[in-house]
Amino acid sequence: MIKGFIFDLDGVITDTAELHYAAWKKLADDMGWQFDRDLNEKLRGISRMDSIKVIMDYNKVFLDEETIVELATKKNDIYVESLDSMTQEDYLPGAKELLTHLRSEGFSVALGSASKNANKVLKQLNAIHFFDVIGDGNSVSKSKPAPDIFLFASEKLGLPPENCIVFEDAEKGIDAAKAGNFHSVGIGPKERVGHADIRFNTMKEATLFEVKSHFKDLF
Ligand code: G6P
Ligand code: MG
Repeated sequence: MIKGFIFDLDGVITDTAELHYAAWKKLADDMGWQFDRDLNEKLRGISRMDSIKVIMDYNKVFLDEETIVELATKKNDIYVESLDSMTQEDYLPGAKELLTHLRSEGFSVALGSASKNANKVLKQLNAIHFFDVIGDGNSVSKSKPAPDIFLFASEKLGLPPENCIVFEDAEKGIDAAKAGNFHSVGIGPKERVGHADIRFNTMKEATLFEVKSHFKDLF
């Protein structure tokens, strides 16, 4: 029986990819590194420190750990400042409707995000009240594709993974859900989340009715 839903944040509830892109691009330009939207796609769902390492690998740059942390912090300062412009209008279409519906039907709802800025993003959206549990980049040390963040969320909800559906837009996010034995809903193209149990192109199509009809035996 499905009793709980665990949502990724960036790319599922709201689209922060462009803000992350702008902040990484500013850092890359300052450092004289190559960075474009294709490379930004590879950062979907992975932690800040994993992200900067992907960018450095691509640019064949080697730096000591302290400098890497400093640069990642610089990027984060730019990103956090850009979040000030985010408002309650910035849910991805369909996301707020689904969260509202799940609340009214009495499901348990958690956040399972790799972001250390999840609380700030949820505040900007005025979305805190939709969640019983908030799992973010500060909750666990092993990031996706490890299942730890989703296991943290389900444990806090008091539910085993097989009673929960994870919503994810990242390839590594679906890997994490599967590694933890969660049911999974992929949001995005087949090439990215085709390995999810079910997939929708956008959150707009991911209504509770549609989800229930795909996971018939579980409701
Ligand atoms: C999300 C995004 C990633 C980002 C990660 C860490 O998963 O999809 O692109 O790198 O969060 O975000 P943070 O806000 O902690 O830098
Ligand atoms: Mg995501």
